[in-house]
Amino acid sequence: MKILLAGGAGYIGSHIALALLENGQDVVVMDNFDNSSPEAIMRVEEMTGQTVSLYEADVTNKKVTLAVFKKEKPDCVIHLAGLKAVGESIEQPIRYYRNNIDTTLTLLECMAKTGCKNIVFSSSATVYGEENAAPCHEKMPKGKCSNPYGWTKSMMEQILQDASVADKDMSVVLLRYFNPIGAHESGRIGENPRGIPNNLMPYVTQVAVGKRDKLTIFGDDYDTPDGTCLRDYIHIMDLAEGHLKAVDFCVENKGTEIINLGTGQPYSVLDIVKTFEKVNNIQVPYEIGPRRGGDLPAVYADVSKAEKVLGWKAKRTLADMCRDSWNWQKNNPEGYE
Ligand code: UFG
Repeated sequence: MKILLAGGAGYIGSHIALALLENGQDVVVMDNFDNSSPEAIMRVEEMTGQTVSLYEADVTNKKVTLAVFKKEKPDCVIHLAGLKAVGESIEQPIRYYRNNIDTTLTLLECMAKTGCKNIVFSSSATVYGEENAAPCHEKMPKGKCSNPYGWTKSMMEQILQDASVADKDMSVVLLRYFNPIGAHESGRIGENPRGIPNNLMPYVTQVAVGKRDKLTIFGDDYDTPDGTCLRDYIHIMDLAEGHLKAVDFCVENKGTEIINLGTGQPYSVLDIVKTFEKVNNIQVPYEIGPRRGGDLPAVYADVSKAEKVLGWKAKRTLADMCRDSWNWQKNNPEGYE
């Protein structure tokens, strides 16, 4: 099969590209390199000894995107193209709505024009909102999102679902990611955020490598066992392998299916820091700061549906995630630069 990864050169896309190639699939990547690097795809090619058809293109550009669809004729699209910084989305909501909704509409229009019926979408646990107590189950009604980024995910889910209602031959798989961390075990590809990291693990690794003085833990007065927030961290290679199963499911079925990708195991911010220090034998200086607006005390998945529907279950441990995140960072202190 040929899979088009829209926004495929980023952290998640590069690991999916690797897993797909290792599984014998053909991979096409479209990316504008806004928050990603062609170097990631070059390394994927080097690691697999295979070639990726790489297009430097913005998925909101319909003319260019249609030309790629016509030339490549993908069997399935994995839609990862979008802006993803929560704080930035609060400051620049219009840019987030314009970009993220536009990529989705453009992909759907190009799929309709060229007869591609299958799309796997990179959604987020954020769509459960604060109304739903963990563990989050796919049957729960979606909640209110705390920021425009989250709303774009929620809206994009709706758009994709509506498209599959209108076209009975379409297949949509909405994957709700929990917290992907870690890196490929080779340490050749990994997460490479621009500027100050928003997310916990890249911040921890940058403190460990000496790029930042200390981590600030956002609040230790939550109603959780150690007072810090609980999340469902999933190894990026487990997440990538979940996509292989999701693509198979997508091409074999019709309609819309919503599936959580997590481990189902909650860990606190302090669990992450302590495990990281222990498995890597390195100190991560930290201080306790105030809560960050919009953070929920506990977000983790009910993962039974992924196992039942996809036959997939995350295999890697928190220690694996911490070891592989550090392996990537220490071997690439400046990321891909
Ligand atoms: N945290 C810190 N210090 C930091 C960064 C994070 O203490 O410097 C804490 C946060 O308060 C939170 C936990 O670490 O308790 C995880 O924070 P992340 O920013 O890594 O992840 P979030 O759970 O906030 O957000 C993630 C994704 C979003 C998605 C959301 C959905 O990054 O894209 O899950 O639940 F919307």
